[in-house]
Amino acid sequence: MEPISTRRKALVTGGAGFIGSHLCEALLNDGWEVYALDDLSTGSLDNVAHLRERWDFHLVVDSVLSPTVVNELVYKCDVVYHLAAAVGVRLIVEQPVHTLLTNVRGTEVILEHAHRFGKRLLLASTSEVYGDHRDQTPLPEDARRVYGPTTARRWAYADSKAMDELLALAYHQERGLDCVIVRLFNTVGPRQSGQYGMVIPRFVERALAGEPLEIHGDGTQTRCFCHVADTVRALSALMESPETSAEIYNVGSQQSISILDLAQRVIEMTRSESELAFVPYEEVYGLGIEDMYHRVPATEKIAAAIGWQATLDLDVVLADVIKHQRTAGPAPDPAGNGAPQREWETRSGASAPSTARTASE
Ligand SMILES: NC(=O)c1ccc[n+]([C@@H]2O[C@H](COP(=O)([O-])OP(=O)(O)OC[C@H]3O[C@@H](n4cnc5c(N)ncnc54)[C@H](O)[C@@H]3O)[C@@H](O)[C@H]2O)c1
Repeated sequence: MEPISTRRKALVTGGAGFIGSHLCEALLNDGWEVYALDDLSTGSLDNVAHLRERWDFHLVVDSVLSPTVVNELVYKCDVVYHLAAAVGVRLIVEQPVHTLLTNVRGTEVILEHAHRFGKRLLLASTSEVYGDHRDQTPLPEDARRVYGPTTARRWAYADSKAMDELLALAYHQERGLDCVIVRLFNTVGPRQSGQYGMVIPRFVERALAGEPLEIHGDGTQTRCFCHVADTVRALSALMESPETSAEIYNVGSQQSISILDLAQRVIEMTRSESELAFVPYEEVYGLGIEDMYHRVPATEKIAAAIGWQATLDLDVVLADVIKHQRTAGPAPDPAGNGAPQREWETRSGASAPSTARTASE
């Protein structure tokens, strides 16, 4: 017989994704009962396979675009972490309609229900929202946004996430939604897929296979990489700090490295014979890509709010990704999951008021 749970319940949208699966794990370790809602488009059953036998973990394979499912889940959970999104440069350039609908409409559905049932919500946004800043000065949360034209397709992601932030803030201002917004800078670690253009898993996979590491552009662009364990610690601490409501926080490492140096470091750490191959952006993604040169987060605000800072440096990140890929292989191709199985569990026994009312609210 299943135990009757008195635990606090968290809904993690995108819970079978890279960051989402680590977040689910951390929440379970902290004594939460966790519902993961994921359509497995870029996430994978493998990411949560080790959790699926637990009575306090429930995977619902469905979409945030489904109001009925979202209605039920938000109703039964105490808090909502909204991480589900169309993510990754390649996906965004190839499927702009899918990106915009998932990120804008999906978030709207989640916000609507969090407001309806009075649940606290954390929205995962992105450093892409800052746009194309050319200098290396750390970006504070109130920095201006610098965007290219709408004809350059890569801005679909930044624009969609900026719209998510605006919607969340509007729900707070006009309807009292309790929400906190997190702008994630590059987050890396075990289980991240390289399939959609994420650089570290891609480099490690190539280096371990002895194949050339493809550098897009000239490799002088820099990035800061934060270990997923640090990121997840920030997400749960922000959720637990009610005074952060309606605020935006950067979450990221300030340790900056050029993509060229990163490639060399990966080759060194894997003792690989791989060479470097420079590929122009247009060749990788076709026209419509403008890369951001540098992206360093200012982290004073989150440090002051919850005392958070990144603790694991790039060598730890790389060592963990290399170890994971050596043992588990590269992150699986989500397209290889086959037809998604829908697992709909209603263990709390509570049933939500019908979603029909939400439309008029
Ligand atoms: N990893 C990073 O460096 C990074 C940086 C900035 C922001 N983010 C944000 O963090 C969040 C998680 O990203 P991630 O890196 O773990 O990527 P991910 O692709 O592993 O996670 C996204 C998850 O959302 C799921 N999903 C997509 N559309 C869905 C839908 N309609 N319904 C339900 N689930 C859906 C995917 O299957 C996947 O599991 C995203 O919101 C992303 O924008 C990540």
